Parts: sequence; C-alpha cells; structure tokens
Amino acid sequence: MIEGRTAHATLSTFAAADLDARLRGIGIGGSVMEVSITPPLTRAAVRAARTTDARRRRDKSPGFSRAGARLDEEGRYSLTPEALALALGQRAGGRFVVDAGCGAGGNSIGFARAGCRVIAIEADARRLADARHNARLYGVADRISFHHGDALALVPRLEGEILFVDPPWGVEWSRQRTTVDELPLLAPLRAASTRFPELWAKLPPSFDVAAWPEARPEAWYGVAKGDERRVKFLLLRLRRERPEG
Ligand SMILES: C[S@@+](CC[C@H](N)C(=O)[O-])C[C@H]1O[C@@H](n2cnc3c(N)ncnc32)[C@H](O)[C@@H]1O
Repeated sequence: MIEGRTAHATLSTFAAADLDARLRGIGIGGSVMEVSITPPLTRAAVRAARTTDARRRRDKSPGFSRAGARLDEEGRYSLTPEALALALGQRAGGRFVVDAGCGAGGNSIGFARAGCRVIAIEADARRLADARHNARLYGVADRISFHHGDALALVPRLEGEILFVDPPWGVEWSRQRTTVDELPLLAPLRAASTRFPELWAKLPPSFDVAAWPEARPEAWYGVAKGDERRVKFLLLRLRRERPEG
C-alpha cells in the first residue's frame, strides 16, 4: 500500500532485512529513504543482510561487452551499461539525437544501434577518440557524427529531435541527494536546448527532481548479475510543446 510518499509492506524477516540493507541511506529523486520495521529485526538478521548486500555491490555492471573496447578511467566509471544504453536507444525510436558529453560513447552507440542518427560532442579529445573507436567496433560509426568541443557552445547552434545529456556526476556523488547545481552541463544545456522538442537527462538516482517539476522521471535498474535490482540512474524527460524555431 502506498500513501503519498510512504510505502507499507508485510514481509518475511529475511525480505525485510534485505530491503533495509538495500535502501539504507540512499535517496531517490531527492528524498532519503527511511525504513522502519516492526517488530524490530534481530542484530543477526541485520548483519547477515548487510553482508549479503556488500557482496552484491562487488559485482559491477558490464560496460561494453565486445573485446577491444577502449576506455580511460573516467570513461569506464561513467559508462552507461551496454544493455541499458541499448534500451534507452530503443526508447528513442529512430529519432535524431544530439549526445552532449558523449564520453567513451556508451549512449551514442546505444542510440545508433537502435537506429538513431547521432551527433556526439565531447570536450576530451582522447575520450572522443575512444568513442570513435568503440563506435567502429560496434559497426555504427557511419550513424554517428563526432565533434570535439564544448557542448555548451555547440548545442545552441544545433537542431535535433532529442538532446541527451549524461553530465559528469563525479566519483563522489551524493547517494542521498544531488542538486541541479552540483552537476555540470545540466542547467545551461536546459536553457540552451529550447530548439529541441525533447531533453533527456541521465542523472544520479538521488537527483532532486523538484528542480525539474515539468519533467518525467523514470528509475532505471541494473540488469547485470548482482545489481539487477539497484537503481542505476534516473532518466528525466522534458517534452516541449512548442520548441523555438
Ligand atoms: C558521464 S560522461 C558521459 C558518459 C557516456 N554517456 C557513456 O555512457 O559513455 C560525461 C562526459 O561529458 C564530458 N563533458 C563535460 N563537460 C563537457 C562540455 N562542456 N562539452 C563537452 N563534453 C563535456 C566529459 O568529458 C565526460 O566525458
């Protein structure tokens, strides 16, 4: 049963301890999750559940599955897992996408594999070279036009059907609450993208959605072994009725 922002459930001791361990201290959409369990769990049940959860977190989502993909350190930790990038691409339904800050190409390749044409912009020349290489590896280089430069300068001159942005979250992003001001690219791109009918932003699960009241947030879960139930990111989709011409 859900009452406003409160959910109640009747669970076994094992399931309640597991849920408590998974949700402990994390925020979704800007609100920290609090779990209270009645009757209280035994210490042994709490300890066992936290150990299981810590083990589960050791599994990392696979990034690119093809051998030979190139990634520097930031490209690796910021890469959208391949299966999710492809699912996002399918959601785009063959439309024309501008990927502002494409990194090593995880999302651009996902969009292109799903049939979209893509303009991919990246400020870091070496990472852009990796993205180009990775696009060739996946056989979609002919559907992506790569540009080295500042997305903030280039986007206002472009048109497309979707502007996609996966801003750098930083390794130390807050699991409890992330505000719009803590993420580069996001606010200025929102202002600079009025010619795009849709703006899609891939954001930390803890992103405070109150900053984007007109956007639709969707939680995307991991699908790889070990993290399939964890929220990997929020996708905020902002649709404009009348993009500026
Ligand atoms: C989170 S990563 C993108 C990861 C990508 N979506 C993927 O799945 O591989 C963000 C990227 O934005 C780039 N970036 C940051 N500011 C930028 C700017 N002003 N113009 C272009 N790229 C920028 C960073 O260099 C970084 O590679």
